[in-house]
Amino acid sequence: GTAGSGALDALIVDVPDFPKPGIAFKDITPLLADPAGYAGAIEGLVALAPAGIDLVVGMEARGFLFAAPVALRLGVGFAPVRKPGKLPRTTVAASYTLEYRSETLTMHADAVRPGQRVLVVDDVLATGGTARATADLVAGLGGEVVAVVVLMELGYLDGRATLHAAGLTDVRALLTASAPAD
Ligand code: PRP
Ligand code: MG
Repeated sequence: GTAGSGALDALIVDVPDFPKPGIAFKDITPLLADPAGYAGAIEGLVALAPAGIDLVVGMEARGFLFAAPVALRLGVGFAPVRKPGKLPRTTVAASYTLEYRSETLTMHADAVRPGQRVLVVDDVLATGGTARATADLVAGLGGEVVAVVVLMELGYLDGRATLHAAGLTDVRALLTASAPAD
């Protein structure tokens, strides 16, 4: 179950054992298919954003669906974080290891200007690996990660603690999911 906005909550569907046994997948496609729900989610994320943001950074692929509309609504630019081999110009990379996979994320080296105040937006905060690597990329380019804002935080994982340990203390979630029932 989740706490937060009941209407949005109902549009995010738990899929047990996807993509593998023991993983409870958060399917956001019903939310995307509902125009009022999708708009409400974007408005909710915008309302969570701190003031004074210069740039929104979002992560391939599902993060794009939330980060880019938030950037438009805030009136600031958007910069994509992508898997290796997708960005055509000079990139920087950050790797992170999860329980069952290792991932590398990249950004264009000129995507963040030194001193820019950056908001990181993604759909789900789980272990925090994706957001942590993204924050490392932004910081490496001289940006200041002001906050991490997500649609849904899986409160039963260590994502928030992982981000706090990395110095990212401002982590905001529109919805918080508790552990799925067995
Ligand atoms: C999912 C989700 C988040 C990330 C959260 O992305 O969209 O980006 O996992 O997990 P974490 O906090 O443990 O890193 P995924 O890597 O499945 O790829 P996608 O967005 O391209 O579907
Ligand atoms: Mg993702």
